[in-house]
Amino acid sequence: MASYNRLLVTGHLGFIASTFCHRYKDNYQITGVDFAGWGSMERNLVPGVRDLRADIADGEKLRSIIVEVRPDAIINFAAESHVDRSNEDDSCFWRSNVMGARNLAHEAMRLGIRMVQVSTDEVYGDAHASNAPWTETSPINPKNPYSVTKAAAEMLLAVYGRSERHHLDIVITRGANTIGPRQFPEKAVPKAVWCFTHDIEFPLFRTPARRMWMHVDDHAAGIEAALRKGNKGAVYNIAPSFDSEEMTVTVIRRVRDIIGKGTIREVQDRANYDLRYWMDSSKAKRELGWTAKYTLDETVKATVGWYLENGGWLEAANNLPAGGGKG
Ligand SMILES: NC(=O)c1ccc[n+]([C@@H]2O[C@H](COP(=O)([O-])OP(=O)(O)OC[C@H]3O[C@@H](n4cnc5c(N)ncnc54)[C@H](O)[C@@H]3O)[C@@H](O)[C@H]2O)c1
Repeated sequence: MASYNRLLVTGHLGFIASTFCHRYKDNYQITGVDFAGWGSMERNLVPGVRDLRADIADGEKLRSIIVEVRPDAIINFAAESHVDRSNEDDSCFWRSNVMGARNLAHEAMRLGIRMVQVSTDEVYGDAHASNAPWTETSPINPKNPYSVTKAAAEMLLAVYGRSERHHLDIVITRGANTIGPRQFPEKAVPKAVWCFTHDIEFPLFRTPARRMWMHVDDHAAGIEAALRKGNKGAVYNIAPSFDSEEMTVTVIRRVRDIIGKGTIREVQDRANYDLRYWMDSSKAKRELGWTAKYTLDETVKATVGWYLENGGWLEAANNLPAGGGKG
């Protein structure tokens, strides 16, 4: 098993990468690269992590950073990640999610180092009509512009991994719906905490949908295991147990119960609304020795508890003018 010391972690001011930095700052020397866009907060910066500002879609700038840092692995968390915004305008999604991933892959190939691409269950599409959960060999069939860009990046990186011309040491993780501390309040659970604590009605999409709810600590641990133990060219589903699958309305009601008040109002579904993501992560258990540690109830309780204890974070995130950066 290879060992790594200097990591380049992109998107470290965002939700999942900041958790990764909290968990692994003592195991690795981490340099973060983030352009402080949507989903980011300066206050998410983890002490001990080097903080560089750059757009990974800017190939020249990225090259100068890589030459200086000389990482021995890259983990790409950076992405435009909000489905609703991708429905409105997907141009920046192509730039960050595809061009950015492509530039990182070229740097990884130049140095001959491993790259972990943090992808999503959304590339599989919608399991609403499926009679079995997705495995890594299930066809990908993304249904919204965000997940199309994530799938496009995966396909390019997989080709770089397979082709004799490129030889990219790539490992791809497909994570389930993740919740936990420092998630931007455009996403359901932090939005629900904000609404219920501020006497605002929570807007719930009308058509019932279900998700596998994974704690962000578990997601970060799955990605770290993929870095260390993932087979070159492999894809891994990173999902909690099937018991952690639940209807969104049930989870939002649970959030309301913990807070002790609040109203839910049904609204029109978002465009391209996927009703179910359903993944089997037994390959990650077998090959990476990874399984999720949190139960669904622990995940929801710990998440809501964090937002209640860190009201200032939620306040700052809600008051950011363009959805990210300074706060
Ligand atoms: N949140 C989930 O439920 C979930 C589930 C599965 C996979 N993922 C994947 O995990 C990764 C992280 O998701 P998240 O929820 O933490 O997102 P996030 O929106 O909280 O954070 C993304 C970060 O990437 C940065 N970024 C975006 N484009 C960039 C660019 N061009 N250059 C530099 N920095 C850039 C942003 O500024 C932000 O800090 C994404 O790749 C996403 O597709 C997320």
